[in-house]
Amino acid sequence: MEKILILDFGGQYNQLIARRVREHHVYCEVHPHDMPLAEIRRFDPIGVIFTGGPHSVYLPGAPLPDPGVFSLGVPILGICYGCQLLAQELGGLVTAAQEDAAREYGKTLTVFDPACPLFRGMPERSVTWMSHGDFIARVPEGFRLAAHSAACPTVAICDEKRRFYGVQFHPEVNHTQYGRELLHNFLYEICRAKGDWTMADFKRRTIASLRERVGDGRVLLALSGGVDSSVLAALLSEAVGRQLVCVFVDHGLLRKNEGDEVEAAFSGRALDFHRVDAAGRFLSRLGGVTDPEEKRRIVGGEFIRVFEEEAKKIGAVDFLAQGTIYPDVIESGLGQAAVIKSHHNVGGLPDSVSFREILEPLRMLFKDEVRQLGRELGLPEALISRQPFPGPGLSIRVIGEVTAEKLAILREADAIFREEMASAGMAQQSSQYFAALTNMRSVGVMGDGRSYDWAVALRSVQTSDFMTAEWSRLPYELLDRVSVRIVNEVRGVNRVFYDVTSKPPATVEYE
Ligand code: XMP
Repeated sequence: MEKILILDFGGQYNQLIARRVREHHVYCEVHPHDMPLAEIRRFDPIGVIFTGGPHSVYLPGAPLPDPGVFSLGVPILGICYGCQLLAQELGGLVTAAQEDAAREYGKTLTVFDPACPLFRGMPERSVTWMSHGDFIARVPEGFRLAAHSAACPTVAICDEKRRFYGVQFHPEVNHTQYGRELLHNFLYEICRAKGDWTMADFKRRTIASLRERVGDGRVLLALSGGVDSSVLAALLSEAVGRQLVCVFVDHGLLRKNEGDEVEAAFSGRALDFHRVDAAGRFLSRLGGVTDPEEKRRIVGGEFIRVFEEEAKKIGAVDFLAQGTIYPDVIESGLGQAAVIKSHHNVGGLPDSVSFREILEPLRMLFKDEVRQLGRELGLPEALISRQPFPGPGLSIRVIGEVTAEKLAILREADAIFREEMASAGMAQQSSQYFAALTNMRSVGVMGDGRSYDWAVALRSVQTSDFMTAEWSRLPYELLDRVSVRIVNEVRGVNRVFYDVTSKPPATVEYE
């Protein structure tokens, strides 16, 4: 399989570069900037990308690649810091931008040389996204200038003979108008990629290698009902059938019908499926607890305990499967030993479960690739495109103490909101939306009588990374329908709020 190597110089968009490359159906991996040449050779890339980074390339201690990378004979694309690095290491000069000249931040009109293969098919002028304080003051020998902006004369450099290209802007960021085309050119025109990275192929290869590795061993998996563990279960079921033992801990904090939906999704598949109904246990542990962090700890801890007890009944297994995905691997410091993503944000593995090895077949996939794989495996779309749902479930959407009554109210209200969002065609537009049960009761009038009931809060946000989020401008008519239905259909609710705070200052969840 053809591979692109992304050397990480510490830039904030490195994951995004990798995702963009894979969107073009070319496999890539992000590795530390100082990956030794021998390892690079073993990796055998068809091209290398140097990422951006916060350093100044001319200062002592600036991160540099193994110089052997320049003699590999494969194309290199340097982005931002990576571009300056290319220039300096090959004989050019990089300096701090004087005053404000050549220093750029944000959207910048850029003029391209259309004869440069990197910019083929792009208009001569378009907007790019810049973020740099240094610039290339002298272009190295063998290179020529291929783009400029009003402030910076050296926005892109290229050496077509050696196939080295550098751009000062960020093609991976959406604000760069022709970033996709540029990456396409690099991958297909310059690196001559064929585009052999598809999920159908990944599925076939991974199933074959799982069969080989697992042999006739048994595999244990904690299924949470989330996208990653569900896709993992489907993949392993196809690879090793009933050698896969899935433990689905139903903590009673899922949304309406969700537990049954998870079970139904796996009912026709070959695997050894154990559903543990632990709702009562979780509820009694949560009794009287109001502190959000304490709720999280309880749900996480109890989850591990229930899983361990079930695993004990199952007996020794050979492998424990984990739904670790690539962002976890990248964020935790790249290619280090197994990164353990535990369910419900509890650090660590269940320690009384006996197994030989950990299996993490999704560890090189991004979330959208995991979803694509789920489709290849025939999982229902409702499960695959499920919006993010916190591990502690509805326990952190019932503000204050969690009780069976409050959970029942919330489940119904949330189901109505979801139904109406779907039928209004808004479900795909929102990044995350849900109902929460506020810890507030207020007076209302129902028929001729006075009511004193709970208030439900509705929340819907738009975001790309959940670090910041904007509240969704939902149509009033939709909000009205949801409100009328909730108050009419859910006993114990007489008021509905719509949350119009963004993050920050609010968070997405209420607890
Ligand atoms: P906040 O509330 O921090 O949420 O703005 C950002 C995203 O993270 C999810 N979230 C959680 N996910 N366990 C999880 O697995 C948690 O304890 C948790 N708290 C928040 C939240 O749903 C949103 O997508």
